[in-house]
Amino acid sequence: DARELDGLGALVRAVPDYPTPGVTFRDITPLLADAVAFNGAVDSLADLVAHHGPVDTVAGMEARGFVLGAALAVRLGVGFVPLRKAGKLPPPVESVTYDLEYGSATLEVRTGTVSPGSRVLIVDDVLATGGTAAAAVSLVGACGGDVVGAAFLLELDGLGGRDALSGLVVDSLLTVGS
Ligand code: PRP
Ligand code: MG
Repeated sequence: DARELDGLGALVRAVPDYPTPGVTFRDITPLLADAVAFNGAVDSLADLVAHHGPVDTVAGMEARGFVLGAALAVRLGVGFVPLRKAGKLPPPVESVTYDLEYGSATLEVRTGTVSPGSRVLIVDDVLATGGTAAAAVSLVGACGGDVVGAAFLLELDGLGGRDALSGLVVDSLLTVGS
């Protein structure tokens, strides 16, 4: 309910001008460290994505998407595919390079971990510009996965994330102004 979501939101710390001036960093570590909040967030995310029906796999982006994505995968009873930053996985890999709110980066996935035609839910902690999630969508798509949607703990309104993911079903547990 709304009070529960307010409680979760209170455990996300806004850090102005980090890592660069003008950027507000959303620190979810207080939420993760709180047993009730972390469990509640994962339960609520599971409820939020239930409208998709069964999914085969959750894919999460390094690093913070691993925490929520893996927890949600366990809750949903499905496998987890890590989408890693460059140079962490041995070949063969598929890769996509993308622009971030600060800098640019490459996401990679082990070839063969996404089954062609499988229903994949993309999960990350924060949706900001949508660059990371758009890269995840194209990476999973390049592997033949069927991306059913993307789910986030926190959406930063006003940075164009939803537009960057146009055509995709996007669910966010919490939304804050950027
Ligand atoms: C952060 C966050 C999201 C992404 C959102 O990750 O965890 O993955 O930025 O921004 P975007 O919508 O503008 O792409 P980041 O790459 O900063 O680092 P992490 O390794 O801590 O997850
Ligand atoms: Mg991230």
